[in-house]
Amino acid sequence: VDSQPTICGMPLKYVSLVTLAVQNAALSIVMHYSRVSTPAAQSYSPASAVLLNELLKGSISFVVAFLRVADASDASGRGLMGWWSSLRRVCREIFSPDCWKLSIPAILYVVQNSLQFVAISNLPVATFQVTYQMKILTTAAFSVMLLRKKLTSTKWLSLFFLAIGVGIVQIQSGSTNHIPVRHSMPVGSAHESAPLHIHIMSPLKGFGAVTAACFTSGLAGVYFEMVLKNSKADLWVRNVQLSLFSLVPAVLPIFWESSPTYARDGIISGLFRNFGGWAWATVMVQVFGGLVTAIVIKYSDNILKGFATSLSIVLSFLASVALFGFRITPSFLIGSTTVLVATWMYNQPPGKELVGITSVMPV
Ligand code: C5P
Repeated sequence: VDSQPTICGMPLKYVSLVTLAVQNAALSIVMHYSRVSTPAAQSYSPASAVLLNELLKGSISFVVAFLRVADASDASGRGLMGWWSSLRRVCREIFSPDCWKLSIPAILYVVQNSLQFVAISNLPVATFQVTYQMKILTTAAFSVMLLRKKLTSTKWLSLFFLAIGVGIVQIQSGSTNHIPVRHSMPVGSAHESAPLHIHIMSPLKGFGAVTAACFTSGLAGVYFEMVLKNSKADLWVRNVQLSLFSLVPAVLPIFWESSPTYARDGIISGLFRNFGGWAWATVMVQVFGGLVTAIVIKYSDNILKGFATSLSIVLSFLASVALFGFRITPSFLIGSTTVLVATWMYNQPPGKELVGITSVMPV
C-alpha cells in the first residue's frame, strides 16, 4: 500500500484535487479561445492535437513508469546493467498479456477528446462546463450497470437535480441556433477591437457533442476503474498502455482528413499546419490534465474528482465573465447553482447524507 506523499507539507491528495480544478477551468478557456480566435480555414486540426496529446502523455508516463521500476530495483546502484534490466522489465510490464484490456477505454478517450473540440467550438465556455457535468450521470449509470455499484436515494435525487440543472442551462443557450462570437476575444487583447472575423457557434451541434462525450467519459472511466481494480499493474504502466492503444484511433482521422495536405506539405508540416501558441497551450494543458487525473485516481478517488470538476465550473465561469464578457443570465445562474448543489449532494459521504433518505435503492 502506498503511503500518502506530501508536497510542501500538504497531502498530494488535496494538492492534486485543487490542481485538477484549475486545470479543468484552464482547459476549457484555452481550448475555446484556440478554436474561436481564428477563422476556420486558418485553424489547427483537432485530430493533430489529440494525437500529440497521446504521444506526450504516453512518453511522460513511460519515463515515470521506468523511473519507478528503476528505483524499486535500485538500478542506479547497479550501473548500466541495472538501467538496462529496468528498461526490459518495464517493457515486459507494458506488453503484458492483459494489455489489450486498455484498448476499449483508449478508443473511448480518443473519441471523447475529439468530441470535446466540437463541443467547445460551438458553446460558450461556461455553458460547456455546466453541461459537461452530465458525465456524473453517465458515470453513475455505467457504475451501476458494469460495477454493480448501489446508489443511495440521495445520490439518485442529486442525479435528478443535475439533469434538471443542465436542462435549464441548455434552454437559455439553445434558444438561438447560431451565435456569432465576436466577443470571444479576451477583453483588452489586440484582437478585441478588430472585427476581423465572426466565429459562428451552433449550440445544437455543441450539445450533441457534449452529450456524446459524457457517454464516452462515463463508460471509459468505469472501464478504466474495472481494469485497475482487477489487476496489480502500476497506474503509470496502465497509462502507457492507454496511450499506445490510443495511437491507432488518433492517427486514422488524420490521414482520412488530410491526405491532400500531406501529399502537398509532407507529414510533419501537415500535422503542425496552423499549430500556433494557443494550439500548443491546449495540448499542454490537456497532457497535464491527463497526468493529474491519473494522480487523483491513485491518491484520491472519484468522489473528490467530482468535487474538483464542480469547483472548476465556478472558476471558468468567473474567468469567462472577465475574459470573454460572458453575461450572467438568471437561467444560467439558476441552472449552474442547481448543478453545483447536485454535485455537492452527490459527493456527500454516506454518514452525512440527508436524514431519512439514506436507504439503498435496489439495482
Ligand atoms: O472528463 P473525464 O474525467 O472523463 O476526462 C478524462 C480525461 O483524462 C480524458 O481526456 C483522458 O484522455 C484523460 N485520462 C488520462 N489518463 C487516465 C485517465 C484519463 O489521460 N488514466
